[in-house]
Amino acid sequence: MARPPVITVDGPSGTGKGTLCSLISRWLGWNLLDSGALYRILALLAHRNGIPVAEAAQVAGLVRDILPDVRFISAEGDEPVTVILDGADVGALIRREECGSAASSLAAHGTVREALLAWQRSFQRPPGLVADGRDMGTVVFPDAELKVFLTANPRERAKRRYKQLKEKGIYVSFDNLVESIAERDRRDTQRILSPLKPADGAIEIDTSTSGRDDVFGQVAEIIRKRFDLSAVHNIM
Ligand code: C5P
Repeated sequence: MARPPVITVDGPSGTGKGTLCSLISRWLGWNLLDSGALYRILALLAHRNGIPVAEAAQVAGLVRDILPDVRFISAEGDEPVTVILDGADVGALIRREECGSAASSLAAHGTVREALLAWQRSFQRPPGLVADGRDMGTVVFPDAELKVFLTANPRERAKRRYKQLKEKGIYVSFDNLVESIAERDRRDTQRILSPLKPADGAIEIDTSTSGRDDVFGQVAEIIRKRFDLSAVHNIM
């Protein structure tokens, strides 16, 4: 049987990956993988279990416990993806910047990344998959039919993150947020394993001055040209 097609969307935080992936997955009716949420959930569980993020083997051990219980649902509005862990919506908890920062620390460990690999690939189910992350096109789904890499200038990304957090009732200092995002970028791009970089053949889109509909429109145009969409009924 032919393997289900995959669209990967990689890039740093605040570039609009989550929104774009949610729009594509709802439009096409494809599955959605928010891989960043997975690293964030691990960070949350490590914290709850009193495990330091540097303890790679122990953190990787948590993967077995959470795998069967995580689901992603693409949604409308400002929170594009609902993350369900063990039946509960953990979105607000894991979107905190502390969680993102801890996630980026534990994501540097090979044992942790390895433990998540097969599980991430198991999302490749019919009719197709839209995968959001840092290494979706380079490592997890190197054979993806379409690879997109989003960028945006750091200040614009910090502004978006600030707005998202505020809407969730999470108030942070803007300057601290800029610093935390810059630090996370440094860690994600400079790490040895699966560093953040565009995959070969990825289509790069700078979203600094584009709205979500504009970015979605550009990618939808490429998808129409590249995929047979005869089975997609809910054309937006
Ligand atoms: O995308 P998000 O901001 O939720 O990701 C949180 C952190 O998880 C990132 O800063 C990155 O270090 C890590 N991550 C990763 N590989 C992915 C997705 C996220 O290393 N595919």
